Amino acid sequence: MKIAILNGSPRAKNTAAMVNAFAEGAKEAGHEVEILHVGKMNIGGCKACEYCHGKGAGTCIQKDDMEKVMPAYKEADMVVFASPIYYFGMSAQLAAAIQRVYAIGKPAKAAKAALLLSSGSPNVYDSAIAAYKNMRAYMGNENKGIFTAAGEENGSDAKLAEIRACAKAL
Ligand SMILES: Cc1cc2nc3c(=O)[nH]c(=O)nc-3n(C[C@H](O)[C@H](O)[C@H](O)COP(=O)(O)O)c2cc1C
Repeated sequence: MKIAILNGSPRAKNTAAMVNAFAEGAKEAGHEVEILHVGKMNIGGCKACEYCHGKGAGTCIQKDDMEKVMPAYKEADMVVFASPIYYFGMSAQLAAAIQRVYAIGKPAKAAKAALLLSSGSPNVYDSAIAAYKNMRAYMGNENKGIFTAAGEENGSDAKLAEIRACAKAL
């Protein structure tokens, strides 16, 4: 299956390690993986102008890096959301990339989803997990795993092996 991983971190460190472990496992199982570094992209927040639902016919009036993300989103059988925790929630960059999907309503094919979260402290995931669960219910897809890495868990062999194994079993 085609897997799109949206990495909402602007830097190549803790979230990226989780993303890479997931991608490695999924590729070992023969899946096609595309990593979209939305945390480093130029993706504006939705302007609520409704151009996409009128004249734009599913396209956004903003011509930015969301144009790189949308094709992968549309084609993916599985979407993986990955983010550092910023003030108890997902990063603004990932939130913007998720909310811009408003242009098409929801990814048409994505039957599966997973969530990867990195943080400094433990027990800071409620808000990001709630958003993910609600998104999943809206998109109508199956949860294939929620992984968190706090503090020293980040980059640890045990955590990355756990993520790799889950992705390999998809
Ligand atoms: C703006 C900002 C806000 C953060 N807020 C939190 C927080 O609320 N709780 C927490 O445990 N860590 C917080 N952190 C720490 C990051 O979640 C943590 O360092 C994470 O591993 C970074 O992932 P990265 O290497 O992909 O950037 C914050 C970091 C930044 C830069």
